[in-house]
Amino acid sequence: MNVETGMLKPGEARHPAESTQEIIAQDKVKAPGWAASENYEYLGSEDVTKDRYVDPEFAKGEFERMWTRTWQMACRENHIPEAGDYYVYDIGPYSFIIARDDEGEIHAHFNACLHRGTKLKPSATEGYAMDLKCPFHGWTWNLDGSLKEIPEKWDFAHVQSRKMCLPAARVERLGGFVWINMDPDAPSLEEYLGPEALAHLKAWKLEDRYIYLHVQKSYPANWKLTMEAFMEAYHVGDTHPQVQPANGDVNSQYDVYGEHVNRFISTLGVVSPKLRDKYSEADIIENFTLGDSSSLGGTKPELKEGERARQVMADMFRNMFETATNTDLSHVSDTELLDTYSYTFFPNLFLFPGISLPMIYRFRPDAKDHRRTIYEVMFMRSKPKDGSQVETASVQVLEDHQSFAEAEGMDPGFGKILDQDTDNLYAQQEGLEASAKSGITLADYQEIRIRHFERTVDKYMAMAPYAPSIDKLQRC
Ligand code: FES
Repeated sequence: MNVETGMLKPGEARHPAESTQEIIAQDKVKAPGWAASENYEYLGSEDVTKDRYVDPEFAKGEFERMWTRTWQMACRENHIPEAGDYYVYDIGPYSFIIARDDEGEIHAHFNACLHRGTKLKPSATEGYAMDLKCPFHGWTWNLDGSLKEIPEKWDFAHVQSRKMCLPAARVERLGGFVWINMDPDAPSLEEYLGPEALAHLKAWKLEDRYIYLHVQKSYPANWKLTMEAFMEAYHVGDTHPQVQPANGDVNSQYDVYGEHVNRFISTLGVVSPKLRDKYSEADIIENFTLGDSSSLGGTKPELKEGERARQVMADMFRNMFETATNTDLSHVSDTELLDTYSYTFFPNLFLFPGISLPMIYRFRPDAKDHRRTIYEVMFMRSKPKDGSQVETASVQVLEDHQSFAEAEGMDPGFGKILDQDTDNLYAQQEGLEASAKSGITLADYQEIRIRHFERTVDKYMAMAPYAPSIDKLQRC
């Protein structure tokens, strides 16, 4: 900030209320360095073109240039815990069988038979198999991708078995996720994420969590438009007014890390700066919405004279999560327990790793319709300390007309919040298509994640098309 002249440069303006860092600094159990820090970068103020949301040719370009080069979360390691377990990950026209072989190695085989191309496993399925057998004529591969059998081999004397291994995408494992990339020349996942974001991801120890609820719904809006609805807290006042009495919104913090990761931090246990005159500390306790209320028991604490609502809530969360998970959380900071930490891992993974509402969002474009998104919400819990096995939830697929609150196991209040977000998307996609304006106008600070994200989209769109080819791909 230019203090001497009182003039602010672009990107320097902030809401005058106490900042996220000032709120966190008052906490009893102090935040680690990666939480108690800021990494905002001003990236310009120009409008972002709208063709990326409304033009089917742009979507085609993304499949040719971006999806084939980027690291994507294919599944959780817990989706395939044993040898023979597989999970089919589909992205646009591409499909992969994520399979664990007898040695425990994980492979991402292109889901297409090398005889006449039939999909070996149906899209969006998971299961167990001793081998990968094509349903058409029975060509069969081992789980590691090596060719096992060609029926009537006498008629394929021209086929060399060693050239008939299933091609595979690259695989890396991090944070309990299986990440894949179709480009043999792409940087490693660690390079791709960069050192700061990598340190954040490791600090959250997501490998110690499991998915207990997984819900999917399809939206009539572009996949980037859908994701970007979750990248800022600017919309909270008009879209989710019910959470304002107990959540920071316009004073949330926004950070960018390299080209592929960004985040925001939105505080819980404080009233929105827009409602400071209307709500007391006691009102905050009265109005906050519990996240994973099934494990918290749905109770709320009493606020005594002079106590800070945020601190009382932090103490309560710590006690309740310690009881629910039989874990010592005395070293876990108040902000990790309470606040909404939202990370984007480009292109389509969203993590909410905080302890009060730990979730994963994944967004995928429909291969045939640029204005339709497959949106998944996965809720996480800590794995049992005694090492006992837990089941990873299978996906519940909702119909277009269904509310998220209808999903079995969904907190109704949270289901309503998701519905509020999605109602906006219908209007936004149609509005952009009807608009006489060629772009969208973004806030310099509160919408920096959207600008950062779209800048990276543009970087890939400026590259030449890359189509995965069997000759260049990893072989068994
Ligand atoms: Fe797969 Fe013929 S197409 S065995």
